[in-house]
Amino acid sequence: MTRETVDPELVVRAWGHSERASARAGVVVRALETDEELEAARYVWDTTWPGQPGGTEITQHLLRTLLHTGAYVSGAYVGDDIIGACLGLVARAEDDDGGWHTHLHSHVAAALPGRADRGLGTALKVHQRAWALDRGYDRIEWTFDPLVRRNARLNLVKLGGTAVRYYENFYGDMLDGINVGDASDRFILRWDLASERVETALEGSALPPSRDELIALGAQQALSVDGDGVPVVHDVDSPVRLVALPEDIVAVRGSDLARAKQWRQAVRAAVAPVVDAGGRVVSLTAEGDYVVEVGS
Ligand SMILES: CC(C)(COP(=O)(O)OP(=O)(O)OC[C@H]1O[C@@H](n2cnc3c(N)ncnc32)[C@H](O)[C@@H]1OP(=O)(O)O)[C@@H](O)C(=O)NCCC(=O)NCCS
Repeated sequence: MTRETVDPELVVRAWGHSERASARAGVVVRALETDEELEAARYVWDTTWPGQPGGTEITQHLLRTLLHTGAYVSGAYVGDDIIGACLGLVARAEDDDGGWHTHLHSHVAAALPGRADRGLGTALKVHQRAWALDRGYDRIEWTFDPLVRRNARLNLVKLGGTAVRYYENFYGDMLDGINVGDASDRFILRWDLASERVETALEGSALPPSRDELIALGAQQALSVDGDGVPVVHDVDSPVRLVALPEDIVAVRGSDLARAKQWRQAVRAAVAPVVDAGGRVVSLTAEGDYVVEVGS
């Protein structure tokens, strides 16, 4: 898809989704450009991922260069106050069929501490989708930590993305307050912007399946939690598998790093080989299990 071939009605609908998502979250999302606006976005990212004193996630000069070379930079505002920000990079990657595909790679999206769970993340991503479709992109990809259940719900259920790759320790060691102490395994989330699956999700019509419902249909639990809260991996062979997640891995990392590492190993063992063999993570149950489909 290019700017010339994108369906104009799809773009109009995408901006409509963006306006409604922003209104639901009580914010105005807009593309950023001035030095002051870029500083404000960097403040959001540095506050979200507090690293070394004086350190920064992305320098002002780098951000200016990225913007100049086609990046997407947005902020979510309440009045004059920025409370969320997102950055997407122009990217080129080899596709499943061996061809090369240009897409947007979303590098960071963040809501300031205390601002989560009110639709802000959705508002940022849905604005990013409309911006991207308007410029002829048909796909956005980003990484996310397979252990973070909030992001799994946002990415798979609310936005209708699909996890298509699993990387062990993608970024190497990370020192910021959210990730410190654990390996930085990441999924690649693929968001096919023009797909019916995504439009259905954005209409709010893609309800998460329930664990029992899927088990009744033949799914097996590849990872469950025992009575002491310990993750247990099971040897299963069904085409659809359920993989339980901790409710809040960032809190577990803060209180019990050994348990957090146990979760990392367990989810990696239950998911990575299936995704490596062509499987996909397509949803998150209402109870918080990944729904993993084995590749054909
Ligand atoms: C990721 C982030 C941007 C999402 O923003 P947000 O405003 O919280 O996102 P939304 O409110 O649109 O969606 C979050 C959803 O997860 C749900 N959720 C929260 N915690 C959950 C949990 N433990 N299990 C399942 N769902 C959970 C929320 O209820 C909400 O779903 P709902 O609206 O259907 O109820 C934000 O939380 C953040 O800044 N996190 C830290 C940085 C980060 O991880 N960024 C992403 C990687 S770059």
